Amino acid sequence: MKKIDNTNEFEAKKQLDIIKELKERYDRDYKERGIKKTYHIETFGCQMNSRDSEKISGILKQIGYVETDTEDADFVLYNTCTVRENANNRVYGRLGYVGRLKKNRPDMLVALCGCMMQETTAVEKIKNSYPFVDIIFGTHNIFKLAELIKTRLDNDISGGKHSDRMVIDLWKDTDIIVESLPNDRKYPFKAGVNIIFGCNNFCSYCIVPYVRGRERSRNLEDIIDEIKVLANDGVKEIMLLGQNVNSYGKNLKPQISFAKLLQEVEKVEGIERIRFMTSHPKDLSQELIDVMGASKKICKHLHLPLQSGSTRLLNIMNRKYSKEDYLDLVSRIKKVVPDISLTTDIIVGFPGETEEDFMETIDVVEKVGFDSAFTFLYSKRTGTPAANMDNQVEESVAKERFDRLLNAIQVSSADAAGRDEHTIQDVLVEEVNSQNEELLTGRLSNNMLVHFQGDKSLIGNIIPVYLKESKGFYYIGNPVG
Ligand code: 5AD
Ligand code: SF4
Repeated sequence: MKKIDNTNEFEAKKQLDIIKELKERYDRDYKERGIKKTYHIETFGCQMNSRDSEKISGILKQIGYVETDTEDADFVLYNTCTVRENANNRVYGRLGYVGRLKKNRPDMLVALCGCMMQETTAVEKIKNSYPFVDIIFGTHNIFKLAELIKTRLDNDISGGKHSDRMVIDLWKDTDIIVESLPNDRKYPFKAGVNIIFGCNNFCSYCIVPYVRGRERSRNLEDIIDEIKVLANDGVKEIMLLGQNVNSYGKNLKPQISFAKLLQEVEKVEGIERIRFMTSHPKDLSQELIDVMGASKKICKHLHLPLQSGSTRLLNIMNRKYSKEDYLDLVSRIKKVVPDISLTTDIIVGFPGETEEDFMETIDVVEKVGFDSAFTFLYSKRTGTPAANMDNQVEESVAKERFDRLLNAIQVSSADAAGRDEHTIQDVLVEEVNSQNEELLTGRLSNNMLVHFQGDKSLIGNIIPVYLKESKGFYYIGNPVG
């Protein structure tokens, strides 16, 4: 069944050769200077970007760079987001700062990648206002990073104005997925695994389909092979990643459903927890609900973006479900997985949102009882249909609704919190508590945090913990046994 795709294998080999060549150059430099070159990555936005940054980090480490936690580094990369306007503004802020640093370190390389780079206007602005930037690439060609670095270094040898030496490589879309390149995982015990790239949904407010391209699923065998390797390396928790995981497999031959993929992941020995993100309500099948109900490994948590509770607005948003469909879906999920924790995304102030529309959103929040929600003020994204709608909501009205929505969410989170108080639950121990070094922090299957006393050696293990007290956003617990 494995798809033979020569382009991918050819690309992977070519990039690995360039990585090797750069490594030889960097090793020589290390011998001469006695210090290794450093890199720093700032990641904006979602988990897809975080995962991309791990891949970038893998390539840089393989070349010979060592990671540092400040932008005072030999190679600085901003992995950008553009889902809302303020994400773009933050990048311009960082560029101003790094431009000043670069004045004192002329050899420093500054690179930009990610969703914002897929927007022509943003790239034009960078070319004009931040000419010191060295490399710009997008969401479709991360695998080429080593080649782009090599081209940039070779441009230095040929001389010329700095802005002429800038390397820009942007692809509008792609159908290739390059496997088997280096990788640098942030945690040894949990890992994100891409299963599908891109989005075909074109929600009318959203820029993602324009900057991440059409949906492309990875082959089942590639995903399972990656997860087996991770399990062998001691990874216990897998997060399957995609803009819309429920579309997984639709473009594969033969087609395969996301629920079937989950069943295959479930069979991998050593993997104890399976999460996934994000689910579009219109595509969440009864098959998936039943697989979740029967599974011992799939976590009791679903992130199910609502966006709005008003059927009228959902239509204009092109979400393809109604308020009633959403509520019906939630009740079907709760029937099969009664202890499910539901979280969501909600946009306030979408063009034309009336008080009645907004109250429909509040109604859904009250009926569903979300554990938590990401709430966003609508942000106009040039190029999307909603940006041209002439009934944009006044900022003060949107802000006032936003505050009321936050209050409603707080009430629903407070109701959900403490549900497991005085029970014993499995906790994946993740780290030493950042506020109090005597405590460890871990997560329940439903994603809730638990703080408890214990030895650092427990990190990475799943252990039973008695949940002594609920503190709203987290529990205080006692390890059992
Ligand atoms: N304005 C505000 N929020 C947005 N989102 C996507 N596009 C916009 C926008 N233009 C939110 C949606 C999505 C989340 C990742 O970002 O709620 O689910
Ligand atoms: Fe954007 Fe809609 Fe695709 Fe999510 S499903 S990434 S909101 S277009």
